[in-house]
Parts: sequence; structure tokens; C-alpha cells
Amino acid sequence: MGGRTGCGGARARCLAAATRSIFVALLSTLTLPVPACQSPPEHVTYSFPQGFLWGASVAGFQVDPGCPTLDASSCVDTRSDWYVWVTDPDLVADPATYLSGEPLSHGPGHWELFEHDYDLAKTELGLNAFRLSIEWSRIFPEPTLGVDDPEALAELASAENLAHYRAELTALRDRGVTPLVTLHHYTLPVWLHDAAGCHWDLDHCSPRGWLDREVIVHEIAKYAGFVARELGDLVDLWATQNEPFAVVLAGYLRPGPDRTNPPGVSLAFEEVKAVSLAMIEAHARMVDAVRFFDVVDADGDGRASQVGLVFALTPAYPADPGSPLDQAAAENVAYLYNWAFLDAVVAGSLDASLLGTQTPREDLADRMDFLGINYYAVVRVEGEPSAVFPALSPLSTFNPFTLTVDYETPSGIYDALLLASLRYPGLPLYITENGTPDVDSPDSQRDYMATHLAWVSRAWRDGADVRGYFYWSLLDNYEWNHGMSMRFGLYSVDPLDPQKTRVPRPAAQDYARIIRAGRIPDDLAPRLGP
Ligand code: FCB
Repeated sequence: MGGRTGCGGARARCLAAATRSIFVALLSTLTLPVPACQSPPEHVTYSFPQGFLWGASVAGFQVDPGCPTLDASSCVDTRSDWYVWVTDPDLVADPATYLSGEPLSHGPGHWELFEHDYDLAKTELGLNAFRLSIEWSRIFPEPTLGVDDPEALAELASAENLAHYRAELTALRDRGVTPLVTLHHYTLPVWLHDAAGCHWDLDHCSPRGWLDREVIVHEIAKYAGFVARELGDLVDLWATQNEPFAVVLAGYLRPGPDRTNPPGVSLAFEEVKAVSLAMIEAHARMVDAVRFFDVVDADGDGRASQVGLVFALTPAYPADPGSPLDQAAAENVAYLYNWAFLDAVVAGSLDASLLGTQTPREDLADRMDFLGINYYAVVRVEGEPSAVFPALSPLSTFNPFTLTVDYETPSGIYDALLLASLRYPGLPLYITENGTPDVDSPDSQRDYMATHLAWVSRAWRDGADVRGYFYWSLLDNYEWNHGMSMRFGLYSVDPLDPQKTRVPRPAAQDYARIIRAGRIPDDLAPRLGP
């Protein structure tokens, strides 16, 4: 493990300097200036804290299908709304869904090949952590409505799929790899969400997924508690949900070519607020359930569970740093994209109507043991003198047509970590996803990884309590509406190869070297700008 550089161990001083500069930045340009203690020395060593988790991330819906020999009936989960979303011919034919129509059989078949994948993760990459999701509809293919008793729930659960997850988690533990389990990564059981019906007629569909708030909050908490009871002896690190704002944005506000989520309807303002509230409440109740039912300390650190949330924390910058209108818009967008949700789950301060004013909700507070940050992009916004969507929020003072999502700002990962540290002091942070689909030119994935990791290291040096980094993704997988056409893997997988052979990309070797060294070796170290 290389020594820390730059701040002479004075984390508090650095954080204070960074805090000052960020507040100045928020008030002025929102472009974060570098505090004095950040200036990189001539030969900077990008190092990471002791006990850092080095991982990769996957999600069940994306990696499981496509098994080389297993029967599709056990390999593919037909009971999730996403299965319907990507296979229903009418939905695929509708240009407004932006669905690729790619068969799920083109996926990488992790459901069958997980032992092999975990061998690669351990022996080739040297990972000590791995993030995967459990699929609700695989645990409970049939409704659990009205059944609350854990023993009765056990009767309803798929014993075969539970055994499968036990085998996967045991395979990780046997290799000395710490699992981080996401309980909800976009997918809902079909018995809770009619994705097709809600796409065509949102007002009259049934069941309505996140819009049936009381039902879904109750059911998802039951599911979370049940999984914690059954698998808590193997898992201590839990994430309740993945990117709730993406469910809202790509599901109810602005589905587009980048991402659609079922039901994929546009500008449904009331639903945006209703779904956000349901997901906030669901998070809190899931945390309660996991804390109650996971009573086994799997890794012997004295805690049976740590439960957090995975969020795509997106820094927002003014398109013109000198324009007060753009600055105000950037602050408002940062609030609508990030803080309205996170303040509720971290601090129990709820702004259900997106008015910019929050009220305390005791039953939501103290329900975050860590925050998982997915970092892909920053946004740049131009301001408008008044709200563009008053029915959504008086804070919607941005030009929606010129809002740009910028995937090429590596320093955004630093800003995301520092902004979270400043807003939620003491909350441990993980980078739970970070990766690029630019995998065809040999060096771009390598540069992407090294540069982002360098910024993570610098964020740690400047006071962010970042405890791990999970690359997205271990292998090429089914990228939601894009199918297999967008590839993010450290290992490539040819969708048409019947064996689904995993072939390492050059970035895999770099990652292994970084992990072995516990720092970015000098020949891989990028020179970061200020
Ligand atoms: C994130 C999702 C993840 C994957 C990456 C590329 O938004 O959480 O499942 O699709 O994007």
C-alpha cells in the first residue's frame, strides 16, 4: 500500500478547505476549484485506504440470461416486468420504448457460469469484493400479497432459486470475496407491475408497480426481510435499491434513447413525485426489515448488516459559469436529481412535492449505513427565469432542450464524492459502479479506469471516506433497452458464441495490477489537471 501524499495526513484541514471551496463554488460557478492542499506534487502516488474493497458490479437481469447449456426455463426469469418489457413484440415495435429487441439468449449466461466468473474475479483480477443483485421475481415468482408470516413466505419462495443464490454467495465467500447484494436493481415481479399495460394506459393499468405505494412498500420490505433471513449468514453488505432516480427519470419523466425503464411514459409529473415517495419509503422499510432479520455477522467485524442505497449522484454545472441564471439552474437540477431523494433517505428530511422545502420524518431518518455512488456523468444546464414545468416543481428553472449529459468528465467522480462527504458528514461512501461502453479502441477503457481511479484516490486524500470501488462491469451483459450492443465488460463476451467464452480486455490486466499494488502503478498513473 503506497503512502498518502499531498495533505500530510491532515484530512480535516483538507476537508475544510474543500468544503470552503465547494461552498464558494456553489455560490459562484459550481465548477469546483482545487484547494491548495490538492495541488498534485510532481510525482503523485495514487493510493487508497487500508481495507479498500476492490470489486466489480453486475445485476441479475443483465448477466444471468444466455446460459450455454442450461434450459432457458431455469436460466431466464420470465416473471419480471423487464422480461415483459424487452420481449413483448408490441412494446419492442413502439419507437417510444427505444428497445433493441435483442433476444435474452444473447446474454452472458452468468446464472450457469458463475463459478467460472468468480474464478476470474478472484484469480485473474484479485477482487476482494463483488456486487450482484438478487431478483425479487426469482425468489417470489408468485404473489406474496396477504402473506406476512416468514414461515408461510418460505412456502411461497422458490426453493430452487434460493439454493442457487446460496451457492453463488458461498462461491464468493469460499474465494474470500465480500458480496455486496442489491435487493432491487430496476426489476419488479409481474404480479406487481404490468409493464405493457402501464405503458399503453397508465391511468387504467393494474397492477401499477411503484404507483401502488402502500402495496409495494409493504411487499418489498417483506421480500427484503425474507432474503436477509435466508441469506444473512453469507451477506453483511446490502443495498436496498439501485438508482431510484433512473427508475423515475427513464420511467415516468423522460424516457429516451439513452435509457428507458418500464412503463416508459413521458412528463407524468404527478407520477414522478408519487414514485419517488414510494421508493423513499420503501428504502426505509427495507432497511428496517434487513436490520431485523439479518442477525448473523458473516465476516466477523461485529456487525450483522450494513444497509445502504445505490444512487447515481450526478454533479450539475452551469453551462456558462458566469451566468447567474445558469448557476441557479445548476443548483436546482442538483437538488431535483440528487438531494431531494438523498436528503430524505439519509436525514429523513422529506420534500414530497419538490417545492424546495423539507419536513422531518422520524420514520425515515437514520436509515443509511453507507451511500453507494454510481458515477457515469455530469450534467450541464442553462437557466430559465421561471419554472419550465411548474406542475413538476418551481425549481425546474432549466432549459430541457439544452441540458447535456456529459460522460467525459472524470473529475466528476471526485466532485460526487466530495459533495456527498460535505452534505452527509460521517456517511461511508463506496463507488458502486463506474465504467465505459467505449471498449473497442484498446486504450480507452484503460485510460477511463486509471483516470477515474486517480480522482477517487484524490477524493480520499482530500477527506472523502471512500471505502471501495466496483467497476461496471465484470463482463459484457444485457444493457437494458440496448441489449448487447453496449458493452462495458472487463471481459468481452460474444453474444453469438454458444459457449459464451470470456476474453479479458487490456483493462482487466491494469485493474489486476492496481489491485495487487494497492495503488496506481507509476506507468499507469494519469496526470490529472487541477
Ligand atoms: C447504470 C445501471 C447498470 C448499468 C450501467 C451501465 O445506470 O445501474 O445496471 O446499466 O448503468
